[in-house]
Amino acid sequence: MYYQTIRGYVRAVDDVSFKVGKEDALGLAGESGCGKTSSALTILRLLPWNARIIDGSITLDGEDLVKMRDKDIRKKIRWKRISMVFQGAMNALHPTYSVGKQITEAILLHEDVDSKEAVERTEKLLELVGIEAEKINRFPHELSGGMKQRVVTAMALACNPDIVIADEPTTALDVIVQAQVLKVMKELQSKLKLSWILITHDLSMITETCNRLAIMYAGKVAEYGDLAAIYKEPLHPYTERLLSAFPSIVGPKSELSSIPGFPPDLLVPPPGCRFHPRCPKAMDICRKKEPVPVKAKKDHEVICHLYT
Ligand SMILES: Nc1ncnc2c1ncn2[C@@H]1O[C@H](COP(=O)(O)OP(=O)(O)OP(=O)(O)O)[C@@H](O)[C@H]1O
Ligand SMILES: [Mg+2]
Repeated sequence: MYYQTIRGYVRAVDDVSFKVGKEDALGLAGESGCGKTSSALTILRLLPWNARIIDGSITLDGEDLVKMRDKDIRKKIRWKRISMVFQGAMNALHPTYSVGKQITEAILLHEDVDSKEAVERTEKLLELVGIEAEKINRFPHELSGGMKQRVVTAMALACNPDIVIADEPTTALDVIVQAQVLKVMKELQSKLKLSWILITHDLSMITETCNRLAIMYAGKVAEYGDLAAIYKEPLHPYTERLLSAFPSIVGPKSELSSIPGFPPDLLVPPPGCRFHPRCPKAMDICRKKEPVPVKAKKDHEVICHLYT
């Protein structure tokens, strides 16, 4: 998926490929601007006017969402099969409607129920995310940030979706509240048998909640597979560097490394491997040829010339 701009195409989602199975929780991680939100918006086909899906497929139970008509995506897929907690959504709640009304409205719009049933469902949803049903008539400004975040999570669950995409659900919350929201998400996952795609730049949050991981860099996936396998043995130099930038609480003290430089401009991404200008292990081929995915182990894929 590229964005068309007057300066050319911004190649925001390029050859991105991953799978989310039933009850899987996939963490999608990477630096700011690497295409995480764009990937999610592409899955839901919720793209701005200048976005173009150039090629590729998004398959849900054998059906390609890229080929589906807008009307069908709206009626059958969004909210009902795949829903999303948008980045910064807690600040986008309507200030003059009660939170209950905002959830009820979503249910009434998408499901064939009367308003009494919709209100009952809203109360249940609020309780599910740890907010007392009595707070149904509260306005957003009467709730704390953590509660608002839980309200938008409840909203995403309104139509019993199979997959929930949560885009930076805990950014802007303090660590204690972050932990509470994560706990709610984990409980929901096991209670409702949901699949999650959790988007964040916070790797520690992914280790708390996910079983699979895709590391994105500059619009591409650099490494992908089983979370534990990647943590145990990161293969891509980018993943390696990212992980060593995190302190270990229990391990021996060591100096944290950082990755020099900045992610590239996606209007003119570097030729070859997009990470090569910052890669400590870059070879000649990395500057010239784009690497292709290599299956390193059973459930561990890396896109790097070191392994081809
Ligand atoms: N509507 C748009 N038109 C043109 N370019 C866009 C548009 N939206 C996003 N981009 C560009 O696409 C790239 C990917 O952006 P995206 O929002 O997907 O990143 P992200 O990984 O979600 O970042 P963050 O962690 O900051 O949320 C960026 O280079 C961004 O500038
Ligand atoms: Mg984003």
